[in-house]
Amino acid sequence: MKMKVGILTGGGDCPGLNAAIRAVVRKGMKDYGMEFVGVRDGWKGMIEAEYFKIDRNIVSGLLVRGGTMLGSSRTNPMKMDDGIDKVKSGFEKMGLDALIAIGGDDTLGVAAKMAEAGLKVIGIPKTIDNDLLGTERTIGFNTALTVVVDAIDRLHTTAESHHRVMILEVMGRHAGWIAVMGGIAGGADLILIPEKPFKLDDVCDVIRKRHETRSFTIVVVAEGAVPEGGSEVLSRGEKDSFGHVALGGIGEWLRKEIKEKLGFDTRATKLGHVQRGGTPTVADRLLATRFGVKACELAGKSEFGVMVALKGDEIVPVPLSEAVKDRVVDDEWYGLAETFFG
Ligand code: F6P
Repeated sequence: MKMKVGILTGGGDCPGLNAAIRAVVRKGMKDYGMEFVGVRDGWKGMIEAEYFKIDRNIVSGLLVRGGTMLGSSRTNPMKMDDGIDKVKSGFEKMGLDALIAIGGDDTLGVAAKMAEAGLKVIGIPKTIDNDLLGTERTIGFNTALTVVVDAIDRLHTTAESHHRVMILEVMGRHAGWIAVMGGIAGGADLILIPEKPFKLDDVCDVIRKRHETRSFTIVVVAEGAVPEGGSEVLSRGEKDSFGHVALGGIGEWLRKEIKEKLGFDTRATKLGHVQRGGTPTVADRLLATRFGVKACELAGKSEFGVMVALKGDEIVPVPLSEAVKDRVVDDEWYGLAETFFG
């Protein structure tokens, strides 16, 4: 009998999701004769049994397309009464034999709980934040970095012309990987991340000193960066169903403080969702393709309760519980970034 596999994407979207969906479907149809259904809008679709059949034609052209053809949501079944049973009942209604969940720590955290409850599920890690402990890379991170580095390059030329301090706010709630790696690759003069609360006086000292010999400064700040003793800058009041507040605005806050304390002409740019849009880079297409094929092979071998992960140059299965743990910026990476401050 043909194995029927559901695929869902949950949480914030990113480039490379569609490439992963395509890889799962192409591998599964070719080598295992699997049937596929797309579950709409993440865990919401599992609960409501909202799905559609996916075949070779439907995944045609997906490799290069950003976003997710399945839709996404931040629905958290664990916050609902009988959420686990509701997901299980959706699984049965759709007649599934297995589920492949593509997501970050929230979506895969639910997958881990569902696996504990006996659901046959495999995870594929994605998030532009690259903050899952179990894998060295997540789908979407490389594309986000590319966007950030392009933005820094562009800010450099205008910063130099106008002798300005330019602040670039990037995504990253709890982990500053986008800021650190993007900042290093773009040649940022100062990088502020959630893992390292900063002193405003120190920030001003770095800029003041730099302007003794240079006429401009590029600061990259992660949206979750906080001044020592202060709190995160919120963009909106509401929380999502995983309890996350919406962040944004630290760049503008810094702009005002720097202008006031140093008097330098200062501008802030918030990159926002541009980091999550558009076509995936080559690295993300390759990673998504390798993850998708491996997830399909694991389903073919009935190896469930795992997430595919990049370890060194290998794609390997790791327990889904690894996806829930945060991978934050370590001192070695921040130390590397600090070498180029000022
Ligand atoms: O989790 C990925 C992410 O892009 C974070 O970096 C960011 O804080 C958040 O999603 C933004 O979420 P939303 O798209 O719901 O505003």
